[in-house]
Amino acid sequence: MRKKLIAGNWKMNLDWNEAMTLFAELIQYEKSNDTHADIAVFPPSLYLRHFYELAQDRKSSISVGAQDCSAQVKGAYTGELAASMIHSVGAKYCLVGHSERREYHRESNDILSEKVERLLEADIIPVFCCGESLADRDSDNQTFVIDNQLDGTIFELSTEQFEKIVIAYEPVWAIGTGKTAHPEQAQDMHAFIRGLVHSKYGESVASNTRILYGGSMKPKNAKELLSQPDVDGGLIGGASLKRDDFSAIIKACSRS
Ligand code: 13P
Repeated sequence: MRKKLIAGNWKMNLDWNEAMTLFAELIQYEKSNDTHADIAVFPPSLYLRHFYELAQDRKSSISVGAQDCSAQVKGAYTGELAASMIHSVGAKYCLVGHSERREYHRESNDILSEKVERLLEADIIPVFCCGESLADRDSDNQTFVIDNQLDGTIFELSTEQFEKIVIAYEPVWAIGTGKTAHPEQAQDMHAFIRGLVHSKYGESVASNTRILYGGSMKPKNAKELLSQPDVDGGLIGGASLKRDDFSAIIKACSRS
């Protein structure tokens, strides 16, 4: 049985005081409610260690993750953060291949494969993002695009490595636009992705792989999206920056 994962990608938002306040409020929420999902927060990496320590001190089960890592192991790469460093400050997860990184930093399948390798070597769970653009969706190319994004990257992994991966399906046209995939569209794509995993790694791996949906998930649409059989959680941007919205999405995960 796949337990849902609700993950907040804070992107480049919130200064130190704002971030500390929100994280402390989320811990408070998690401690005082019976939640049925794993919860993770992906703040700017500067805050990771502090968040990790706060979660430990308060005996919270909220995990923390980074939004990106270097494709290199270590060395003269000014401004980069190695996967091993991210691990050493307590992160459990790291996003790879978010569409904003693919677009603004021209991250190719080759770079993303390197990043996934670095994360697995460092014992961090990669949350591998994939998703089609509006033009791809309009020309009905979404399955082709996703196939290509997975084929050149995580589908190169061994079964043992692949079992550690979380996939996030994030249609680019739904990110930050307020347009959400209809629950059936999300379900179709998640089922398609699980089918690809099945053909590549078999039934047991496919049924254990968590596939999150991301793209304007809000309290008002979360329940319907999260009740689709192949939607195993959410990767939430804007709504993760508001305590009430994020906690309402966590609450939308029923016991199953
Ligand atoms: P929004 O929830 O703001 O659309 O962002 C989704 C996202 O990019 C999460 O990684």
